[in-house]
Amino acid sequence: MNADRTVTAVEDLRILARRRVPRMFYDYVDCGSWSEATYRANSRDFAHWEFKQRVAVNIEGRSTETTLLGEVAAMPVALAPAGLGGMQCADGEVLAARAAGAFGVPFTLSTMSVCSIEDVAEATQRPFWFQLYMMRDRTFMGDLIDRAKAAGCSALVLTLDLQVQGQRHKDIKNGLSTPPKLTVANLLNLLTKPRWCWGMLRAKRRTFGNIVGHAPNIEDTSSMALWVSEQFDQTLDWDAVEWVKARWGGKLILKGIMDPADARLAADAGADAIVVSNHGGRQLDGAPSSIRALPAIVDAVAGRTEIHFDSGVRSGQDVYRAVALGAKGVHIGRAYMYGLGALGEDGVARCLRILRKELDLTMALCGVRTVEGITRDTIIPRS
Ligand code: FNR
Repeated sequence: MNADRTVTAVEDLRILARRRVPRMFYDYVDCGSWSEATYRANSRDFAHWEFKQRVAVNIEGRSTETTLLGEVAAMPVALAPAGLGGMQCADGEVLAARAAGAFGVPFTLSTMSVCSIEDVAEATQRPFWFQLYMMRDRTFMGDLIDRAKAAGCSALVLTLDLQVQGQRHKDIKNGLSTPPKLTVANLLNLLTKPRWCWGMLRAKRRTFGNIVGHAPNIEDTSSMALWVSEQFDQTLDWDAVEWVKARWGGKLILKGIMDPADARLAADAGADAIVVSNHGGRQLDGAPSSIRALPAIVDAVAGRTEIHFDSGVRSGQDVYRAVALGAKGVHIGRAYMYGLGALGEDGVARCLRILRKELDLTMALCGVRTVEGITRDTIIPRS
């Protein structure tokens, strides 16, 4: 296959990933919760914002470069935390972090990653961000924070929208586990994915690298999954956020904000940035799309903290629209996870190149030369 000609959009990476990744792990990425209404709306609602075409503007010397939390980034994009990257392809998180580092955008490692904090730190030179869930076991959380500090992570992303896990029908029906249980159905499916299996045989890790060794009495993957699900702390409140902020002491990003009132509270809590996000439609199905929620949050925050955004981004045009509506940084989840499943490190690099090309072309055709120039008056709501 000549990937240069067959992969020209993120959708091509998705199609290739579906072919190459075992079904339960592909479905884990490509699904939302319940009816998946919010999952679909996240991408669909970008179309509400149309571009203002401008002509006869000198657009030579354009740049997509910007800063995110004070660090230079090649474009206003970061890789969102996503669990089980190492199940899309062998050593997935290490490969994604390398591709992001080489491109010059931040990578966020999930608590629920396959490769550990130390694996990623060892394999990459650039500092990365670490994502944390609020867990009942504060000693364990403290350990993870210490490990992230020791690894040189430059920001902590605290996810606030997962005190309980949204029901994802496909994961339950597929019996999602890592590594996959060797049932007849799984074995038959694995036989059709020789590339993936071969990679996995040589992979450094095949289960949650940050958690193994910490959780007590865990003998197999099902007891690990049960332990993890019981660990999400339902008592999470703003006092708990303060505890994390004090324990971490560095830059803090609060993720999963969808309401202007919560955005104000996050700014009051001293967040360095917030991520307007509905978890990619994986949590509260029936919630509005993230792009619909963004403008009111930008108004409510009134510049008190940096605003980042995710959910539904599949193109550089989506990045443009989110930036125009006030996002300083745009995080991508599935877009790069498809890249991982499709072509590993090269797939993530391709995803980033595609997004940058699309962003750059859209800037050019809107007569915009800098990321700062991507303002609200360069897009128009569809009437
Ligand atoms: C996620 N997301 C996520 N978020 C988080 O804070 N911690 C996590 O471990 C995960 N895991 C995860 C796995 C997978 C497979 C996906 C697709 C997503 C949510 C993620 O950070 C982000 O909010 C969404 O992915 C954004 O939506 P898009 O870009 O995937 O549409």
